Amino acid sequence: MTSVYVLNGPNLNLLGTRKPEVYGTTTLADVEEMCREEAAGLGLDLRFRQSNHEGQLIDWIHEAGAEVKAGRCVGAVFNPGAYTHTSVALHDAIEGVELPVVELHISNVHAREPFRHHSYISPVARSIVVGFGVHGYVLAMRGLHHIAQK
Ligand code: DQA
Repeated sequence: MTSVYVLNGPNLNLLGTRKPEVYGTTTLADVEEMCREEAAGLGLDLRFRQSNHEGQLIDWIHEAGAEVKAGRCVGAVFNPGAYTHTSVALHDAIEGVELPVVELHISNVHAREPFRHHSYISPVARSIVVGFGVHGYVLAMRGLHHIAQK
């Protein structure tokens, strides 16, 4: 069965309690459940992961890239959290394995502090989903599935 990765970066384990006025009250476990239902509807096997560690995220990007190359994966929905705005290493990892990535942000980062306006991920992302709340995960998965079918 073809897989889809949904990768989450630092502090997303706190979803539901961290700044609910910005990120809502839905937990990461709830998001995983939403993604699992969506993946089932799309006929995809879900690999849902979260880490607070940049190196771990890089290893998962490499893993997903190898799966795509082997024809077993459509790519990754990726919420890099604050690493979006700091990580050349994540940029290089995505570029290095040519992983199809939909960059996702729960909040509208462009309506927030100026330091959130720049992304190291966007130049190597296929698409970007921003500001739809946690529903963005479902939209991003549909988009990735659509791209993979073309
Ligand atoms: C975020 C936006 C980032 O700026 C922030 O550091 C996060 C979450 C979002 O989903 O809106 O941790 O990626």
